[in-house]
Amino acid sequence: MRVFSAPQGNFSDNDIAAAADILKAGGVVAFPTETVYGLGARYDCETAIKKIFAAKGRPADNPLIVHIAHPEELAMVAQSISPQEEKLMLYFWPGPLTLVLTKNPALSGLVTAGLSTVGVRMPSHPVALRLITAVGVPIVAPSANLSGRPSPTAARHVAEDLAGSIDALCDGGETTVGLESTVARVYFDRIVVLRPGSVTRAMLQEATQLPVVLATHADGVPEAPGMKYVHYAPRAEIFLYLGDQISAMTAALDNEAKVAVIAHSDTLELLPSTVRKFTLGARGCADLAARKLYAYLREADGMGIERILVEGIVPEGLGEAVMNRLRKAASRVIGEQK
Ligand code: TXA
Ligand code: MG
Repeated sequence: MRVFSAPQGNFSDNDIAAAADILKAGGVVAFPTETVYGLGARYDCETAIKKIFAAKGRPADNPLIVHIAHPEELAMVAQSISPQEEKLMLYFWPGPLTLVLTKNPALSGLVTAGLSTVGVRMPSHPVALRLITAVGVPIVAPSANLSGRPSPTAARHVAEDLAGSIDALCDGGETTVGLESTVARVYFDRIVVLRPGSVTRAMLQEATQLPVVLATHADGVPEAPGMKYVHYAPRAEIFLYLGDQISAMTAALDNEAKVAVIAHSDTLELLPSTVRKFTLGARGCADLAARKLYAYLREADGMGIERILVEGIVPEGLGEAVMNRLRKAASRVIGEQK
């Protein structure tokens, strides 16, 4: 694996050109986006696309997101864009919103897992935009982690999972959002969010004046195919605590077990100093929780932690995305309100 390194993100044109050459030649290259690191391949190179699925151990029925850098590239992968979809692109691109659109029939079914739709986004990270521009065609990229592991928010996470099985890694420092993009599909009378992210339901509603609902298995609207798999999971088991649970968390701190706690700062202060603590910062702001969650989970694994007690956050705005990932990763939820 070749490594290009610019932790401030200021890669030389030579490095970008060299990484782009590897992609052009059918290689797979990990690169930073504003959400998480992606593992990229040319959108039209089936051998490279197969290499992505193999490297990640990804089920073949889980489609990839296409990343574009210029509006003109959209027609290469999608068609029949509606006025509301166009409006969302104007509002939120470049940025962490993936739109599920009607697929261009010429696009390989390997990308879309045989679906008639394709997920497309224009990332805002300058390195991602420069790389796609240098390749000159759209780049397909899932998150650059082994399937089922937390998504990578730093280059070392990518190396941990994939060092032996990818051609290159562009280390552009830590990602800023920390959770994967919002995945949304526009219908004529509503928007369905298939995976919540930092483009929130309120933002989508404000841009379009359409009602915005969250997909759940319960109401018959399927989530994104990828959401049905075990996800975002560290090796340690996660207990998720909802509401005011300090006494329950304290009781669960068994000195025998290797336990860590992820919680708001004021909660952490009340817990014994001997326990390993990761802060979610001040109550009421989800930014730090989103940015740090996956790194905390991986760090706990690195320390041999066997159980992580996590304090839930308010599931609104960006908090909805954080809680969506935590619920999928948790083996137990304590304090569920019925
Ligand atoms: O922020 C992100 O979206 C990152 C960066 C690298 O861009 N990418 C990412 O890709 O998270 P991945 O493959 O880990 O997750 C893509 C999600 C999966 O849940 C997949 O099922 C869903 O998007 N998806 C892709 N195409 C779809 C489609 N046509 N219809 C419904 N869901 C789709
Ligand atoms: Mg992923």
